[in-house]
Amino acid sequence: MDDLTPLRQLWLDRINTAADPAAIEEVRLAALGKKGEISLKMRELGKMTPEERQTTGRKLNELRDEIDAALRARKISLEDAALEARLAEEWLDVTLPGRPRPQGTIHPISQVTDEITAIFADMGFAVAEGPQVESDWYNFDALNIAPEHPARQEHDTFFMHRAEGDDRPPHVLRTHTSPVQIRAMQEQGAPIRVIAPGRVYRMDMDQTHTPMFHQIEGLAIGRDISMAQLKWTLEEFCRAFFEVDEVELRFRASHFPFTEPSAEVDIRCSWDGGQLKVGQGNSWLEILGSGMVHPKVLQAAGIDADEWQGFAFGLGIDRLAMLKYGIPDLRAFFESDLRWLRHYGFAAGDVPSLSGGLTA
Ligand code: PHE
Repeated sequence: MDDLTPLRQLWLDRINTAADPAAIEEVRLAALGKKGEISLKMRELGKMTPEERQTTGRKLNELRDEIDAALRARKISLEDAALEARLAEEWLDVTLPGRPRPQGTIHPISQVTDEITAIFADMGFAVAEGPQVESDWYNFDALNIAPEHPARQEHDTFFMHRAEGDDRPPHVLRTHTSPVQIRAMQEQGAPIRVIAPGRVYRMDMDQTHTPMFHQIEGLAIGRDISMAQLKWTLEEFCRAFFEVDEVELRFRASHFPFTEPSAEVDIRCSWDGGQLKVGQGNSWLEILGSGMVHPKVLQAAGIDADEWQGFAFGLGIDRLAMLKYGIPDLRAFFESDLRWLRHYGFAAGDVPSLSGGLTA
């Protein structure tokens, strides 16, 4: 048989130039597969004389083993190289500081609630809470709103269902945070200084009303707390909340069954260029209801009205959020539109505080 040297060279070259494991497999089949060149040559051994068969057979066996070994070696080195390349590419410096990008935002209502709470906490008000499904007594009677009082109709109340035959007055979704005044006074007595943020409900829906909205109730009861302190407290609050040095508040005589006297409070502002600015201009914007707590309310909460007196106020959180952050439509607050939330939301971790800056 012919010299096998050129054949050997040819196959070793093909093996060494194969670029990846798939190419190696192709070369293996072409050489050593059933119909591979070397295999076919070995089959021809049968036609040879015994002498020829002995020498050529041995050479062919050696060549087959050599090619086989070369294939295996090349395959391993290609696999190693691929692994090296991957390791080099996926290299990561674990000593670098992590910088996770926060997902999601704080809803403006949560942000503003925290801002307001921070301001009043700084003035010594603790946070009180009450249930959203409230008894008729806490929501109305205890606040000097008798069953026949017209204010009951004005509140557009949602009533809870009572079982057939149960003729006790139905529970309501609280129409304001004022019932928390009663609960807080019952629990803590006087003197007391609390705010109560929370959800309230009224059957109403347009650009500035939603059936659920948020209020913050304020209550301060002491031996000689007066309207003057109410006025100072609210002015300080507005200065801090709107982050302006000068604010002007207008106290307008009003009526609430649970305060006497009562006042609604407007803040001086301007709308120049469609932009709301607080503290200047010729417009007034109503932001809250307030007054001196009615003696009957103190009595209903078990507090001696001859010994104690104080003020209460209730302000709309949603309204304040719209004013401060220029949000035109209240309904959008509760539609859970991600684009709106990303636009008006606040970065997680921006906890408002008076020392750190409310809206920093
Ligand atoms: N509860 C009143 C409202 O919802 C607001 C208010 C609270 C007024 C406290 C006076 C005192 O309209």
